[in-house]
Amino acid sequence: MPDLTATAIACPNIAFIKYWGNRDHRLRIPSTSSISMNLDGLFSRTTVTFGPDIVADQLILNGEVAQAAALHRTRALLDQVRTISGYYYSARVESENNFPTGTGIASSASGFAALAVAASRAIGLTLDEPALSRLARRASGSACRSVPGGFVEWQAGKDNEDSYAFSIAPAEHWGLVDCIAIISQAHKSTASQEGHLIADSSPLQAARVASSPVRLATCRLAILQRDFDSLAAVVELDSNLMHAVIMTSTPPLLYWLPATVQVIQSVIDWRKGGLPVCYTIDAGPNVHVLCPADYAEEVSARLVQTEGVKDVLSAHPGGPARWLPDEH
Ligand code: PMV
Repeated sequence: MPDLTATAIACPNIAFIKYWGNRDHRLRIPSTSSISMNLDGLFSRTTVTFGPDIVADQLILNGEVAQAAALHRTRALLDQVRTISGYYYSARVESENNFPTGTGIASSASGFAALAVAASRAIGLTLDEPALSRLARRASGSACRSVPGGFVEWQAGKDNEDSYAFSIAPAEHWGLVDCIAIISQAHKSTASQEGHLIADSSPLQAARVASSPVRLATCRLAILQRDFDSLAAVVELDSNLMHAVIMTSTPPLLYWLPATVQVIQSVIDWRKGGLPVCYTIDAGPNVHVLCPADYAEEVSARLVQTEGVKDVLSAHPGGPARWLPDEH
């Protein structure tokens, strides 16, 4: 009989080469492979308890009963571990983020990666890293990249089996820092889940998908060789391509605010002035400004002074999702 309860932690990640659009929406097989860095110091901590006395699956997020959509995705992941293990108990899931909610940092990647690890352990499964990554992927694509540590590649694959993420370099490999310029704390107007569904309606998505393997290879090599200039060029290009698709889909979406553009412009100017920095933006207005660790203090100080920036968080490369065996 398994313990029926387990706790795990996982960090969110920032994509250097983005995931936007699926070739199979149901299985969440993406249209392109992607690359990201885990963000150390930011964590979701998730406890899963299965039991015969629990009448229905429950999800408590940061101390509050979660909305139906989050519970629905959680239940789908729990159903997978129930099917594999053969135990059909309902579960209580409690998840907390150590980063304040409303910072605009997505917690779905860290939350579902921690859930995959905690749920499988609680129900007595010892899954390897690819299996955990696949499990997290089905709940939220980017969550599969928060399972392995450091710098991570999600190979798109063609089916459920070969679509999972693996580490291409450990966290200690390269002292990069992500200085996150918080511009708005408001909730995303359109969830990325909906954005993936309409990505193919943009006339630019086919070109983005076709040219993505070259950017993927360039980014992977830049990480392995710790080549910041090469990384900066490909990261900005890939982010711009994703937002071009987002702005030209039907219906068109726009995640940027005036201050987003202000930060983009400043980063370009700072780089022209000799500072090694680049920007990348997810499905929201906040700007992730990457730089080598030696420059992080200077970059954060400049961002804090930039008009429209409300706060700056910074994160070094983070480790893998982890089961905490001593905690229940
Ligand atoms: O995993 P999702 O469905 O939240 O999509 C993530 C989308 C981006 O954050 C914009 C890009 C990425 O690769 O993380």
